[in-house]
Amino acid sequence: MESLRVLELYSGIGGMHYALKESGVPVQVVAAIDINTTANEIYKHNFPDTPLWNKTIEGITLNDFNKLSFDMILMSPPCQPFTRIGLQRDIADPRTKSLLHILDLLPRLSRLPRFILLENVKGFENSSAREHLVKTLMECGYTIQEFMVSPTSVGIPNSRLRYYLIAKISTEKISDASPHPAESDSLVEPSVSSPLGPGTCLPEEEKHGGEALYKLETAKDAQRKINQNNDLSVKQIQDFMEPQMEVNMEHYLLPPKTLLRYAMLLDIVRPTCRRSVCFTKGYGRYVEGTGSVLQCCMETEMESVFRGLDQCSEEEKLQRLLKLKLRYFTPREVANLMGFPKSFSFPEHIPTKHQYKVLGNSLNVVVVAKLIQQLVS
Ligand SMILES: C[S@@+](CC[C@H](N)C(=O)[O-])C[C@H]1O[C@@H](n2cnc3c(N)ncnc32)[C@H](O)[C@@H]1O
Ligand SMILES: *[C@@H]1O[C@H](CO)[C@@H](O)[C@H](O)[C@H]1NC(C)=O
Ligand SMILES: *[C@@H]1O[C@H](CO)[C@@H](O)[C@H](O)[C@H]1NC(C)=O
Ligand SMILES: *[C@@H]1O[C@H](CO)[C@@H](O)[C@H](O)[C@H]1NC(C)=O
Repeated sequence: MESLRVLELYSGIGGMHYALKESGVPVQVVAAIDINTTANEIYKHNFPDTPLWNKTIEGITLNDFNKLSFDMILMSPPCQPFTRIGLQRDIADPRTKSLLHILDLLPRLSRLPRFILLENVKGFENSSAREHLVKTLMECGYTIQEFMVSPTSVGIPNSRLRYYLIAKISTEKISDASPHPAESDSLVEPSVSSPLGPGTCLPEEEKHGGEALYKLETAKDAQRKINQNNDLSVKQIQDFMEPQMEVNMEHYLLPPKTLLRYAMLLDIVRPTCRRSVCFTKGYGRYVEGTGSVLQCCMETEMESVFRGLDQCSEEEKLQRLLKLKLRYFTPREVANLMGFPKSFSFPEHIPTKHQYKVLGNSLNVVVVAKLIQQLVS
């Protein structure tokens, strides 16, 4: 099979590029495009041989694209215009301009790419941008499939429900009359259909009504977590952890201030758990809804710490909470949970905070790899 020429738009730290590798499809990334200096530095570090364009996509001309002569476009446009906590300004948001530019150029390319994959947040499926995208692709003669997928459906203990669209051109007349795969044949099924919660990507972890037990958690929340932890089709968190000798624990422990202030809002998991909430770009700096933290001391029972905690003095409260030895997942561990291979690394001088930021903007490599396989099959 001849290798496909791939255009990677909004390339960030190269999640799409890693997904291509993981998919096993023979490819060559002919250009990766992003304007973020930090992300580009990391991309360059890991893919020194890939042409990386430090440019805004709106500024790229039809002629530039034609010269690249690509067979596939992979893209994850900015999601802020479509998240519920954003204003949902959709196509009125200036951050959607670049996607509209791509859709404007696509029909005019001298050769249409055979394959297109787009990733975005839950919420995109209701946008005018999506409507415009689908309309353009249909008019160009693409066959389309859309999915909502979370990594838990491929056995990874991390929630990150995302919208995906895959499009395949149907140029040659299909002579064997084989039908296009129906959505029910899809490799990956939508795992949840509940509406999006207040966080940007936590629908599976969404708060439900009901009586709070302890730790501001309702019986329903607790039951859902128990169910997730009992789902043996999903791996355990410990399979994604760094060897403990290699983690500078002090660096990742939650500081007393954070413990005292946010204890009730933490999503705490143990190494044996089969769940964690979506890691967002604020991980390590903000607590609420940015990702799970890890309990390192297994001898301490959660309930013994949290029951009646709000009646304790500050000092007692802190003593209790410290017993759990709570720490953040390291950026390497977050990368593991997002399906990045061992070969992925950060240039040494990139601060931890920025590592979390760019990872939070990226995607689950394993999920996208499966979708690429389905797309080209
Ligand atoms: C959701 S992130 C994509 C992350 C990427 N898939 C990854 O694995 O890291 C969106 C990226 O698009 C870039 N971006 C946003 N608007 C852009 C534009 N108009 N032109 C070029 N890049 C843009 C941002 O810098 C950011 O890195
Ligand atoms: C990328 O472009 C930005 C703005 O156009 C510029 O500030 C930055 O120095 C460029 N980075 C590189 C590595 O060329
Ligand atoms: C968003 O789309 C989903 C299906 O994709 C639909 O069930 C839901 O009602 C839509 N929500 C809004 C606010 O339009
Ligand atoms: C790059 O992205 C990070 C978040 O991932 C953001 O904090 C930073 O301001 C961005 N830098 C530029 C130059 O856009």
